[in-house]
Amino acid sequence: MKTFTLITGASTGFGKSLAIECANRGMNLVMVALPSSGLHELGCFLKMNFNIEAITFEINLSTKQSCHSLYKKVKAAGVSIKYLINNAGVLSRGVFEDLDEDYFLTQISVNIAAPTLLTKLFFEDLKTNAPSGILNVSSMASFFHLPKKQVYGGTKAYLLSFSKSLRKEIGKYGIWVSIVCPGGMNTTTSLCIQNRKLGKLSRTSILNPEIAAKETLQKFLAKKEVVIPGTMNKLFMFLDNIIPTTIKNKLTSNAI
Ligand SMILES: NC(=O)c1ccc[n+]([C@@H]2O[C@H](COP(=O)([O-])OP(=O)(O)OC[C@H]3O[C@@H](n4cnc5c(N)ncnc54)[C@H](OP(=O)(O)O)[C@@H]3O)[C@@H](O)[C@H]2O)c1
Repeated sequence: MKTFTLITGASTGFGKSLAIECANRGMNLVMVALPSSGLHELGCFLKMNFNIEAITFEINLSTKQSCHSLYKKVKAAGVSIKYLINNAGVLSRGVFEDLDEDYFLTQISVNIAAPTLLTKLFFEDLKTNAPSGILNVSSMASFFHLPKKQVYGGTKAYLLSFSKSLRKEIGKYGIWVSIVCPGGMNTTTSLCIQNRKLGKLSRTSILNPEIAAKETLQKFLAKKEVVIPGTMNKLFMFLDNIIPTTIKNKLTSNAI
């Protein structure tokens, strides 16, 4: 039976780049994104150019029902999942007191509840297709406690902790869990504009999603636990371990 890689948030940005990387390696895809995202056209493009199967589902993953509905649709299509890539995410958007409560509740649903539930729903598939893997997309914001990324950083820290714990638990089934913590990437238009305004040092750490996706997929398939794409970001992580907390707090308070 043919196996598939399920990627959420595959229509654009990092998810799209991960989908292209997978297609380039001949991996069949189940791609998920919000309605009217151009996902279907991307799926057709990948099918035609990489000789793979690509099935697309336009679903808003912010509710329990929609995650179940995705699972049912995947099963109805007769598809079995070998790799699950939880990439869909609601990005950060400003100071806490200005944030609309519906915004951060959706952020928590998409960034935390959906990947947790999808992992549970597709667990039997992953067991059947072992060796198999889960890749959860976190962020460097899970390590650095940055202003304007309070709820976002919290959701990404959850994913880091969840993934590391689950990895220890389910390795016995031949399923590994990797977590990727990208730094800044040029994905959305607003992020591209924001990234251009950064200082020189920070700017050198910004990656294009294609570069980050290439390194991520290679390390995921090699079963690495935590992937930090990019040399500068790895350097930041090294410095994080040796710089005293008081200095780090000063630097991160001024970071944005
Ligand atoms: N960009 C960065 O600097 C950066 C850094 C670290 C980590 N990350 C993480 O990388 C991942 C991808 O980010 P990105 O920058 O590529 O963002 P993006 O360009 O905004 O893409 C987000 C993807 O998630 C999908 N999505 C959002 N809400 C959804 C929902 N409710 N249901 C289903 N799909 C939904 C979007 O679908 P539509 O296209 O239909 O809207 C899109 O495909 C996120 O988890 C993010 O936290 C990004």
